[in-house]
Amino acid sequence: MNQSEREAAKRRAGERAVEAVEDGTVVGLGSGSTAAHAIRALGREVDAGLDVEGVPTSFQAREIAVDAGIPLTTLDEADVTLAIDGADQIAGRDLLKGGGGAHAREKIVDAAADRLLVVADPTKEVDVLDDPVPVEVLPDARTPVADAVRRLGGRPELRRADRKSGPVVSDNGNLILDCEFGAMPAPTGLAADLSALPGVVEHGLFVDFADEVCLGTESDVTVFE
Ligand code: 5RP
Repeated sequence: MNQSEREAAKRRAGERAVEAVEDGTVVGLGSGSTAAHAIRALGREVDAGLDVEGVPTSFQAREIAVDAGIPLTTLDEADVTLAIDGADQIAGRDLLKGGGGAHAREKIVDAAADRLLVVADPTKEVDVLDDPVPVEVLPDARTPVADAVRRLGGRPELRRADRKSGPVVSDNGNLILDCEFGAMPAPTGLAADLSALPGVVEHGLFVDFADEVCLGTESDVTVFE
């Protein structure tokens, strides 16, 4: 699948997910390029009269939603009925997220939702999660968390936009350590270990999160639960 086919698959997945949105739905608005397609499609439905509110999971999602004319709310004011979010890897109900560094707010909103619909292109589906795990850390905790990740068997690397830039800073003002652990066939224990480290704000292992997955294909969308 080349880049433009992938992009088309993402758009198909995002647009299909929006078909699940009904009047009165409070929608968790995910981050990343696939979720952006869903947000724009939702904006078109709002223009056509659909009555929904959105809870953005990132600065990026908020900007796109405002641009698309979607009324926004917060977790303090509304219960999220349905979250639509992307993923970097999908293994059954387990996800690896945080490629955009937005996984802390994504996890809060996705976990609060009655139902999480994941949107992705087919390259994201894997048998076993094996990409590096993004770990958002308070800036002061960067070194102790990196040391603890090594003790857990991982190889942490501070995320930078490129080799010459300073570190990537999350929407929450924190740093991201991308932590290579190799294949993670049963990520529950690692997820708990990472969550327990002082200074870790959130990590990108979303264990048992996906209720439904919309995978764009070359010409259609495959939906599975
Ligand atoms: C951001 C995320 C995104 O959902 C994930 O990176 C997928 O992005 P894309 O749809 O652009 O491939 O977790 O933190």
